[in-house]
Amino acid sequence: MKTNFSVVPKLFKKDKKLSMKMARGFFKMGLTMLKKRHNFGYDHMKNFCLVYMKLTPACNLRCVMCGQRGDKGVLKGQTGIDESKKVLPFESYKPMIDELAKGNMVYYLWGGEPLMYPDIFPLVKYIQDSGAFCSINTNGTLLEKNAQRIVAEKWHTLFVSLDAFEDVNDAMRGKGSYEKVIRGFEAINREKKKQGSHLPFMGIVTTVTNMNYESLADLAEASKDFDIDWHIYNLGTYTNDQIVAAHKQYMKEKLDTDIFCLEGYNTGYNENIDGERLHAILEKIHSTDYGHLSITVPALNPEKTHEYYAKLEVPVRNHCIVPWCQCNINYNGDVTFCADYNEYVLGNITQQKFSDIYNGERANKFRQAIDSCEGGIFPGCLRCYQNMLFGKKIKGF
Ligand SMILES: C[S@@+](CC[C@H](N)C(=O)[O-])C[C@H]1O[C@@H](n2cnc3c(N)ncnc32)[C@H](O)[C@@H]1O
Ligand code: SF4
Repeated sequence: MKTNFSVVPKLFKKDKKLSMKMARGFFKMGLTMLKKRHNFGYDHMKNFCLVYMKLTPACNLRCVMCGQRGDKGVLKGQTGIDESKKVLPFESYKPMIDELAKGNMVYYLWGGEPLMYPDIFPLVKYIQDSGAFCSINTNGTLLEKNAQRIVAEKWHTLFVSLDAFEDVNDAMRGKGSYEKVIRGFEAINREKKKQGSHLPFMGIVTTVTNMNYESLADLAEASKDFDIDWHIYNLGTYTNDQIVAAHKQYMKEKLDTDIFCLEGYNTGYNENIDGERLHAILEKIHSTDYGHLSITVPALNPEKTHEYYAKLEVPVRNHCIVPWCQCNINYNGDVTFCADYNEYVLGNITQQKFSDIYNGERANKFRQAIDSCEGGIFPGCLRCYQNMLFGKKIKGF
């Protein structure tokens, strides 16, 4: 199975300079995996290369498996309304982007729905003008209306979420969402032709659940017509009562932190997935030419697909490198290492210089705590998307 790095050579043919920017980020992360881990007294900015920005908690969809807005979402209802009032204007991000301008950074903008962030256009322009590589993960429903400007402003990359073909997708992501995303792809491709631009690079992200896994090939077949660069199959973030309880206890004892985000992924959409069948479906997809790359994250040993869903307590990746080269900026300016889990705050970019936060005492305490855990991950990290992408492959998996 292909990994996310395999997309680089293909994009290289289309845009050498931009692909090199992206490759530099991957390379730095690779190096971080190999390096000895330092904690206190080290300049961690040397390895820092990937910034997640959760721009807003607001979203126009309610995808069932989403840890924020789904069945168990922690930002549902009044919480989401209250949290939306904390969203920072674009000006607040400028000092951080300026500070990181020389660092060959990769930015990953997400949310909530990033196209609902009111200052998304000036922000993306400022990031790209700083010399960084910028990617945006969107639900795609607002692409059509913004396509002309996205192409005109040469956004680098769009990761568009689509989980299945038509009815199954809409059962997961909401009625009419499939149609809107397809119209979004068409609008972007139309504008690219009209404006004579190869940007943005564009691809699909599909989250695998027990609702869509049997019909993944239908979406793959339909995707032949989308004129996209890649299709990522994300095996999904899941947890259960035991893992949540263990994580809560551990984080309270080690870092005096109360945990609430992990519960959002305790959805049960991993249950009753036949691993053998899923693997056969993915293998067929990977061996078919749809005109773009198909990538599965994590790229698992075939026999282990069953354990990924049925035995959530079994680690498949460990020694997470995120605290040594990445972080997430929350919509209120809080800096956390983990993108999905925002409880342990390192500092806030409206109050402190970014590098002081990243090299600060709270950051190093977290590094020390995760390093001292078995396998270099906390109990709640077992199916975390970042650990699946950037963790160390456990033998056999
Ligand atoms: C939380 S969304 C935010 C960006 C945007 N609203 C979107 O849907 O693309 C980021 C990505 O996480 C995916 N996602 C949602 N629930 C997930 C889960 N339980 N496990 C893994 N990924 C999930 C979404 O489909 C999307 O691709
Ligand atoms: S569109 Fe994205 S943020 Fe909104 S509910 Fe769906 S997965 Fe969650």
